Amino acid sequence: MAHDPVVELERSDDGVAIITLKNGKVNALSSAVLDELHDIVKSLEVDLPSAVIVTGGERIFAAGADISEFGGPDEATTITARFHRTLDALAALPRMVIAEVAGYALGGGCELAMACDYRVASTKAVFGQPEILLGIIPGGGGTQRLARIVGASKAKEICLTGRQVASEEAKAIGLADEVVEHDELRARTLALASSLASGALIAQALTKDAIDAGLNGTLDEGLAIERDRFAEVFRSEDSQIGVKSFLEHGPGKAEFTGR
Ligand code: COA
Repeated sequence: MAHDPVVELERSDDGVAIITLKNGKVNALSSAVLDELHDIVKSLEVDLPSAVIVTGGERIFAAGADISEFGGPDEATTITARFHRTLDALAALPRMVIAEVAGYALGGGCELAMACDYRVASTKAVFGQPEILLGIIPGGGGTQRLARIVGASKAKEICLTGRQVASEEAKAIGLADEVVEHDELRARTLALASSLASGALIAQALTKDAIDAGLNGTLDEGLAIERDRFAEVFRSEDSQIGVKSFLEHGPGKAEFTGR
């Protein structure tokens, strides 16, 4: 039976993709939400945007996995696989993915925000991994991504207590990259996405890939990845435009094509 979409995709004039979760009161990340989000990410892979914003609207980013779908280990295996498939695909998009966090980002909501490259939070935002309060553990990447973002000891404290982390603390520990007034949140994420949209998109993609791939290995492996991507970026039209513009007009004046 057809149902109303629970995830919506819009594109701005400058090619910014805005993905909005629209699942009831709290944006629980049900299997329907994760599958629709996965389909949207797949569609963006073939028709790349200039940047991506992920939002849950003005009140709640997402309250986590849909607890009503929980059962035993078999259901858990399916749920964690579905989370990882969708969030890994989102994280791998070759464009900056910005989480716009207006309110609660708990459990899977925090994990979704962490799968994004950058988190802009409202002063009303609240982060956390409260799974422990249900007697379970994070299954959407939380044990891994939170530790990489805030360090192992702080990740353990947040996950083992299940406590809520308000916006200012989130910023202090690097979980939120910026905190802005609630009413200014959309303007800020759009301004950031739009400024990226007019940038050198191939260089952005190669930089993101080098940082993410490098973090998975040793420093030497990361430096090898950087050497490879540094050579590759010179194949892009934008590298020729950028270097020529610098030599003729000074820094920051290049008009990139995205190719
Ligand atoms: N999955 C399924 N349903 C959820 C949910 C979730 N993760 N989070 C909230 N809901 C439901 C509530 O049961 C409630 O249902 P009802 O209206 O039928 O009673 C409804 O959404 C509204 O929740 P409520 O707690 O009344 O809203 P609130 O605005 O007071 O609080 C939260 C919002 C997000 C702080 C609170 O709902 C919460 O803590 N949710 C659980 C977060 C969590 O533990 N996530 C990890 C899951 S593993």
